[in-house]
Amino acid sequence: MTTIVVGGHFGDEGKGKMVSYLAVKDDVDVVARAGVGPNAGHTVYHEGRQYGLRMIPCGFVQKKARLYVGAGVLVDPTRFLEEVKLTGTQERIFLDPRCAIIEDKHKKQDTSDAHLKELVGSTGSGCGPANAERAHRTIRLARDIPELKPYLADVPSKLNHALDGGQSVLLEASQGFGLSLFYGTYPYVTSKDTSASMAAVDVGLGPTKIREVIVIYKAYTTRVGEGPMSSLITEDNIKKYPMWQQVLDEARKKGIEGIDVNDTLARYFKEWGVVTRRKRRVGAFDLELARYSAMVNGATGICITCLDKLFPECESVKEYGKLSERAKEYVKKLESGIKVKAVLLSTGPQLDDVVDLRKN
Ligand code: IMP
Ligand code: MG
Repeated sequence: MTTIVVGGHFGDEGKGKMVSYLAVKDDVDVVARAGVGPNAGHTVYHEGRQYGLRMIPCGFVQKKARLYVGAGVLVDPTRFLEEVKLTGTQERIFLDPRCAIIEDKHKKQDTSDAHLKELVGSTGSGCGPANAERAHRTIRLARDIPELKPYLADVPSKLNHALDGGQSVLLEASQGFGLSLFYGTYPYVTSKDTSASMAAVDVGLGPTKIREVIVIYKAYTTRVGEGPMSSLITEDNIKKYPMWQQVLDEARKKGIEGIDVNDTLARYFKEWGVVTRRKRRVGAFDLELARYSAMVNGATGICITCLDKLFPECESVKEYGKLSERAKEYVKKLESGIKVKAVLLSTGPQLDDVVDLRKN
């Protein structure tokens, strides 16, 4: 059956790392990429190298897995071909012929249109203009691009066939719930829905083919680009959060001092975008958004990442019992607030820096 991994806040929850962990740990046969397109930036550490992937599935680290990019995903052909080469996945990666193509004109529009660039704070990767053109029904598709011919495959047929044969499929979404065109903080959102159901549509899987939906949250909330963030930490409200005051003190002890409190925290946590290098705003865990997101996504389990950034003593811990008391308390508080069990905790950037709470 299928497991979907989806972001529960504003993207950058650490999906890339968790997908690569699951792909290897669960010995998956197939990894499929859903989501918007190359506006996503997923970081994967593998065999001593760091990869910043925008197009191909982070599950590529599972060497036996076949990799697919679903029809719902926008494809930037140059970027796609570069990443295929970078990861050496030529023989096992496929695109749906119906993927819509991002061209230079979309990128130009995305970076020159004041509404998109300044109000929305787009990544400039051309996704918004391309999805608009797709809805206008004039965009070119992957089947129209000769360089992509060797990679084309009917993704829904491949995935459904794999499932019929008892194989496992890991489905990786992009962005996060708060950026959903339908359910996010409109108009400060991306150009498509970002929930688990959409991810299934992106690759052509029906709702009955999904067994698990793992919603990923970072231990604190971040947001890049424009738009509201109700849990933003500022000079004025940090006193309300003793834990955050402690984090700030920790940062200052290390000699980190930004232009304001939030900047200091972003520097301490190294919160910069993979795609745009923009600094992310830092907030306390947005529990209300997390609960709503788990509901709409139909979460069967949640995953909390970057636990080590909030609780440095937990770095690289792989057993629940070895986590600090305050970290365990924190996870329990999130579980009971979201009302979904934590199945995975991430304690560092390396693939196996994980506390796996799933049975067996
Ligand atoms: P667009 O998707 O490039 O049009 O950007 C729209 C909004 O979504 C902007 O605020 C971006 O910063 C945000 N966004 C898009 N993709 C990601 C992502 O992968 N991580 C975090 N934010 C994103
Ligand atoms: Mg990202």
